[in-house]
Amino acid sequence: MNRFIIQGMKMIHSNYKSSPLPIGIEVFGVDLKRQLDQVTVERIKEDVTKHRLVVFRNQGVVDGHRQVEISKWFGEIDNVSYAKHPMSPNIDIFRVSNDPVQGCTGVGITGWHIDGTFRSEPYSHSIYHMVSVAKSGGDTMFIPLTQVVESFSPEQREFLNHVWMLSDRCSHLCHPLIYPHPLTGRPTMCFHQGMTSGFVRDYDPTSGKLDLLNEEENKSVISAIQSAIESVTVYSHKWLETGDFILSDNLAVGHRAGSIPSSVETAGLRILHRVTVAGKTSPCKNTLQKQDCCY
Ligand SMILES: [Fe+2]
Repeated sequence: MNRFIIQGMKMIHSNYKSSPLPIGIEVFGVDLKRQLDQVTVERIKEDVTKHRLVVFRNQGVVDGHRQVEISKWFGEIDNVSYAKHPMSPNIDIFRVSNDPVQGCTGVGITGWHIDGTFRSEPYSHSIYHMVSVAKSGGDTMFIPLTQVVESFSPEQREFLNHVWMLSDRCSHLCHPLIYPHPLTGRPTMCFHQGMTSGFVRDYDPTSGKLDLLNEEENKSVISAIQSAIESVTVYSHKWLETGDFILSDNLAVGHRAGSIPSSVETAGLRILHRVTVAGKTSPCKNTLQKQDCCY
């Protein structure tokens, strides 16, 4: 897309191009540090929904204020109290590092997940910017959740369609494991391999009664998810020093952090800024765009 757009007396040039990645697209011709015309913003938002992951490279350092501003294209920001660090440039920035002086450590390494499963409405989008790139390791890996669901056998799908995940956080929320994405209707998953205390059969939000799966059933759920994940394409994003910025549809892709030596001397300093956008719906088995449907 190469076009000129006249808005009032101002002519805006947008040179928006994209190329496919194993999951998502990389977009060229956009400087995120500058204010963008509304047509370009809408195009980016459409591409995030359509492709699930939109990567921008060579952005330099995008300051915290601008990262939050970009994140607000998708909705209100949801920051959580545990995710505060004194070195964070902004209350809405979750600053992650391999150095505890610089940011919160040990984040995202407990397994594949989406962000915010401890919320009744998990985050709709996660927005990432790497401020300091490690010399080795520290990739972020993404998987397409629709493909994970579609790789279950018919028997597994029948079983898992009745399974709900139970968050291990204080809220102990219960979410359907498989449900339609609220915007696209494609089957997706609400799951967190590191923050789940168990699984429940056919949870009824009205009664709140928990019919917990037994140990053997729990194991079969965990095993089915892991096998399905191992059968789909994984996009391992190698962060570059020149400034990478990623917009992700948090409900459509799972992710996890790749390994990185904790020693800053060995691996170099890694600092990632993440912003999360408040979800608009609870994961719901059957309904698209319906607010407050399950809780
Ligand atoms: Fe995460």
